[in-house]
Amino acid sequence: MSESSTLMMSQEDIAARVIVQEHLAHEHLKSMPTVVDSSAQKERIKRLLKQQNAALVAHYYTDALVQELAEESGGCISDSLEMARFGSQTPATTLVVAGVHFMGETAKILSPEKRVLVPTLEATCSLDVGCPADQFTAFCDAYPNHTVVVYANTSAAVKARADWVVTSGIAVQLIEHLAAEDKPIIWGPDQHLGRYIAKQTGIEMLLWPGSCIVHDEFKVTGVEQLKQVYPKAAVLVHPESSYAMAEIADFVGSTTQLIKAAQEMPNKEFIVATDRGIFYKMQQAAPDKLLMEAPTAGNSASCRSCAHCPWMAMNDLDKIEQVLLLGHNEIVIDADLQQRALQPLKRLMDFAAAI
Ligand code: 13P
Ligand code: SF4
Repeated sequence: MSESSTLMMSQEDIAARVIVQEHLAHEHLKSMPTVVDSSAQKERIKRLLKQQNAALVAHYYTDALVQELAEESGGCISDSLEMARFGSQTPATTLVVAGVHFMGETAKILSPEKRVLVPTLEATCSLDVGCPADQFTAFCDAYPNHTVVVYANTSAAVKARADWVVTSGIAVQLIEHLAAEDKPIIWGPDQHLGRYIAKQTGIEMLLWPGSCIVHDEFKVTGVEQLKQVYPKAAVLVHPESSYAMAEIADFVGSTTQLIKAAQEMPNKEFIVATDRGIFYKMQQAAPDKLLMEAPTAGNSASCRSCAHCPWMAMNDLDKIEQVLLLGHNEIVIDADLQQRALQPLKRLMDFAAAI
């Protein structure tokens, strides 16, 4: 670029370019290979898993080393729905669930006879925290003729108050299915996903005002700035992001659906608005494509490129090894609560199997 054209750039243009450059530099650091050789530790953990007839079930948002281990040990790496399905169908008698607390609870509710361990009991989710069971129950009780549908990212107690549990992968289909009953619907706790479903289906729902702190941070301005540098990039958005993000997306979907989109869409470059843990499997599925984190800079941003869930990040090899050695961090659910939470979860599994 010549000096005169630099002089013609506005202060806003220069600031935008600095943001994009910083973002891309961070992207480069993110993809640098890890220097730690963890192969000996992974072999130890694989032996422990085998000895204890245990399977490692990991979410796409966990760190690459955890996903690698799940893959190499014959476990599973997937979205919330498939984690639940795999956990209930595997012959393993112990499940080590690397994700967040509600995922461990879901596994236990569906398979009460199995021992369910989690690397840390502290890994929660802002959607779960933002929807306390007593307050949600009071909200639902105020609308007794409504069907209550809750997202999987909730506690067992909130699930127990619901008629249906659903995951992002099949939420639109489920709400369309329920519309035939002609009953009003309460949706909780993710307001962004609820709004997205309402726009897709034309079905208005009463929304609980929860949100995901990771997806909340993706901003349209940041994506538009990055698109100036990569105009041919397709924008992939998880529906826990704001509706404004969904509006500028080329594709909106659950983690599994986003990976499939990166693989199948003809574009060579993708801007991805979801937790960056997804890049491990997405890059495997689309090895010749350039994958970039969606920026988080823009109006009301509180961070820049922080697209990683702090609770998912708590899962690491040390904790997985410890949990297998010590047998601690077991998920325990009261039998009555387990039974009540099972009903809406079973409906989810049956509905998912039917579509
Ligand atoms: P899915 O993997 O089901 O799309 O959910 C995303 C998520 O936020 C899990 O915490
Ligand atoms: Fe919860 Fe968001 Fe973390 Fe998923 S990424 S566990 S929705 S806080």
